Amino acid sequence: MPGYPNLFQPLDLGLVTLPNRILMGSMHTGLEARPDGIGRLAAFYAERARGGAALIVTGGFSPNDAGNLGPHRAQFSSIEDAERHRPVPEAVHRHGGRIVLQLLHSGRYGFHERIVAPSAVKSPINPQAPREMTATEIERTIADFAAAAALAREAGYDGVEIMGSEGYLLTQFLAVRTNRRTDAWGGPLERRLRFPAEIVRRVRAAAGSDFIIVYRISALDLVEGGLSSADIVQVARSIESAGASLLNTGIGWHEARIPTIAQAVPRGAFAWATRRLKEAVRIPVVASNRINAPEVAEAILAAGDADMVSLARAMLADPAFAEKAKKGDRAGINICIACNQACLDHYFIGQPASCVVNPRAGRETKLNYVSVLRKKRIAVVGGGPAGLSCAAVAAERGHEVTLFERAGELGGQFNLAKRIPGKQEFAESIAYYAERLRRAGAAVVLNKAPTAHELGGFDEAVIATGIDPRRPDIPGIDHPKVAGYAEILSGARQAGPEVAILGMGGIGFDVALYLLERDSRATLDPEAFAEHWGIAPDGSLRDLVPPEVKKKITMLKRSTTPFGHSLGRTTGWVHRAELARNGVRMLKGVSYRRIDDAGVHINVEGRDSVVPADTVIVCAGQEPRRELKGGHYIGGAREAGELDAKRAMLEGAQLAAQL
Ligand SMILES: Cc1cc2nc3c(=O)[nH]c(=O)nc-3n(C[C@H](O)[C@H](O)[C@H](O)COP(=O)(O)O)c2cc1C
Ligand code: SF4
Repeated sequence: MPGYPNLFQPLDLGLVTLPNRILMGSMHTGLEARPDGIGRLAAFYAERARGGAALIVTGGFSPNDAGNLGPHRAQFSSIEDAERHRPVPEAVHRHGGRIVLQLLHSGRYGFHERIVAPSAVKSPINPQAPREMTATEIERTIADFAAAAALAREAGYDGVEIMGSEGYLLTQFLAVRTNRRTDAWGGPLERRLRFPAEIVRRVRAAAGSDFIIVYRISALDLVEGGLSSADIVQVARSIESAGASLLNTGIGWHEARIPTIAQAVPRGAFAWATRRLKEAVRIPVVASNRINAPEVAEAILAAGDADMVSLARAMLADPAFAEKAKKGDRAGINICIACNQACLDHYFIGQPASCVVNPRAGRETKLNYVSVLRKKRIAVVGGGPAGLSCAAVAAERGHEVTLFERAGELGGQFNLAKRIPGKQEFAESIAYYAERLRRAGAAVVLNKAPTAHELGGFDEAVIATGIDPRRPDIPGIDHPKVAGYAEILSGARQAGPEVAILGMGGIGFDVALYLLERDSRATLDPEAFAEHWGIAPDGSLRDLVPPEVKKKITMLKRSTTPFGHSLGRTTGWVHRAELARNGVRMLKGVSYRRIDDAGVHINVEGRDSVVPADTVIVCAGQEPRRELKGGHYIGGAREAGELDAKRAMLEGAQLAAQL
């Protein structure tokens, strides 16, 4: 196969031969427990099977009540559950795919009253301590896994994935961090690994020899008291002997203080840890995390680091990833930019997972782009995220679309975002949408802001002109040392060595990261990343090297909410950790008095002081840019708030689906 020969090699699992090396990684979509969830899940997975993923893993389902992750039941333990699930494997099989059900027992990571674990040791990221399991409960839990696997077979699944990574129950048994038992299930590693090995053995016995058993092993724990690399190899060998067909990998416990899937993580950053396992076992081994482009997947396979690659979020961003890669159509692939905004962050706000750059993800039964019967002439004004999304869908549906952009390039605020270390991949989204416009025959007119009169000749006008940064009313705001965030991020102005940032939303944090002039290699190169975050070559943790601080930065905000509270739930901590490490000072509850030669004069809790600064950068929100009247407003032009690419792209697609 030209382009990606290793990726499109069949893989013989003994029981079945998979057509390629692409596994769709497990993602809890938030649909699992909804009344209309199964139909939507069936459509969601069917689309990914049609797109060429060789093996799909569902999101995690608990084999019993105690193992549920949250108050909503995402459980798979009864004949009714098996009956309810039937449409999912059926839909996948209709499209020639294979699907396994993930069995995940949350252990101490559950958010409810009934959580259990090998020992009553509270997790730092959960409010409640678990109850220690009795020996009888341990036996019963193993039986529950086996029963759930047999039911998965009844439901039509091709197999199960047993979740043994990321700090969930099985990992809690393996690590001394969480297993303090002195009975037959605790103590030396041979006893701690009995629980996961016994689960695999009993699942094999219950589900039969022709059932796929994937075991997701923690290739790196990244916590104190986790397993050493030698321990992990020993676990892998026992799991293989117990009857697993495939060894998938997971990286880091959820409580680890090292990013494992955020934008700060380079592509394919952890493949080296998978290699160690591949060398130790005979069953195929799957590499995971931040594999988002076919060339990354191909390089991992070609280097012999793994036999297969897991793509989770990449499959949200583009369900046809595999099919496009097979054709060598790299420019046609919508790349996951690891923002987590519409996928993992949604879990924490109780919304179904979707994708910023592909708003159809998770909405397969609701948001469909149907060819038009009557072609309209549509003007889209603004080539930022909202305009790009709207113009691409409208043109693909068959409308005659003209996209006007007043700047000399497409992308809008994405062009600023791509300059932040770790956010370079925003450039991928701009290129991808530009390519879709080109293929759909949309006209793109750059350096042009049309007048209302010029829009008169179109059947529909879509106003996606974005935002204008807000300039707060502070005495001295016109001082020459004051700059807007766009001036700094675009490189039009340089900040001096002492900086005050007014505003601590997403942009304030982005600007601070940009100003650190951090060596962005740590976000691009796996070795530099490991060094930056203190991961030793054997997977153990070491002390972080203090960075060389080049700028003295103070961030200020009027509100008294926690620092960075508007940042993504699953990524904000990474930014806060990076800034703290670089000595960035943060102040809240600030009243601004004035800006002058000395810096920013403030009052906090009744006390006046001056924040010395040679550059003051305003990141104080934005207003909708609406100089054009009439038409459909979408994105920032409709509502500014925090810059919100997720809403912008969704509104663009939803409007275009109806025009
Ligand atoms: C929305 C979402 C839900 C997830 N749910 C699960 C899950 O239920 N079980 C699991 O093993 N991993 C889960 N993961 C982790 C993914 O399987 C994967 O390890 C992670 O996203 C990194 O891989 P990627 O860079 O290919 O996305 C989830 C990830 C996301 C984004
Ligand atoms: S929302 Fe962001 S991280 Fe999630 S799949 Fe889409 S691009 Fe990737």
